[in-house]
Amino acid sequence: MKTQWVKTLQPGAEVATYFGIFDVSLAKTKSGANFLKLLLGDRTGKVEGRVWDPALAEDLYRSISPGDIVIIHGVVTEFNGLQINLETCTRVKKEEVDLNDFRPVTEKDIPQMLRQFTLELEKVSTPPLKALLKNIFTPDFLDGFGRATAARTIHHAYGGGLLEHTLEVLAYCEQVCRVQGEMIDRDLLLTGACLHDIGKLWEYDQEALTFRRTEAGRLLGGHVILGHDFVRDRIAQIGGLPGRLELHLRHLILSHHGQKEWGAVEEPHTLEAVALHHADLMSARLNQVEQVIKAGRREGHWTGYDRHLGRSIYVPESP
Ligand SMILES: [Fe+2]
Ligand SMILES: [Fe+2]
Repeated sequence: MKTQWVKTLQPGAEVATYFGIFDVSLAKTKSGANFLKLLLGDRTGKVEGRVWDPALAEDLYRSISPGDIVIIHGVVTEFNGLQINLETCTRVKKEEVDLNDFRPVTEKDIPQMLRQFTLELEKVSTPPLKALLKNIFTPDFLDGFGRATAARTIHHAYGGGLLEHTLEVLAYCEQVCRVQGEMIDRDLLLTGACLHDIGKLWEYDQEALTFRRTEAGRLLGGHVILGHDFVRDRIAQIGGLPGRLELHLRHLILSHHGQKEWGAVEEPHTLEAVALHHADLMSARLNQVEQVIKAGRREGHWTGYDRHLGRSIYVPESP
């Protein structure tokens, strides 16, 4: 269990805790001895680390790499900012830690969000859709789903982001059903909302400290195709869905990006698909703007130009 955080380190403090390795390189002192330069980090920030003992430095340089989790002992010093002089540094298994301690993570409470998601799943009462959701969202699966990021950058790009985004999309879909839901198949829309981004579990390396797309994500069509294929296989496992339900659910996943230039395989061709697309866009866009505001770069009331949004955002008052 991690006990000390980068944000709270003070000069002179002894450190004995876990860190993620973000960079590691060998350098030489003026006298020609090898020492190790490390960039250590957790979800609160990054800090430089040094190993001055040449033998230990060389040994660690061969045995640890960026992306590893280590447990260290050392002392915080001040030299061009804070720096930890490491006395020991041991690689640990990733299963021993919560990876979200070492990378950006949702500000929301993941167990609480998971409880809410479980309640959302129970709202779907159409038996075959209920059976499909039950087949997919087992306790083990939910554990990974709850920790996952929804992106590398742009929106919900942090641990727990996929769950947070999925809950937002579900909430918008439920609202659509209340406001304009006369002709909507609510259970189908909610099932589509739960599953629309499931492929992100495989599009991104969910075990990495710095989120990146996997080879499957880059080569096989991203989460739209990966998610579609996964759901199609699970539908087959439960013996199929009746009538046109399967076709329709698969269409929801393939079309949720709305436009082909945004990664949709098909444009939304059903009422539920149009609703899901707009719910998805609402959650993604608002989060994107929130992230730009939270990044804090300002010229007066304006954020810097954001190339993904294609504009600056006006912030009347500092949040
Ligand atoms: Fe998506
Ligand atoms: Fe989405």
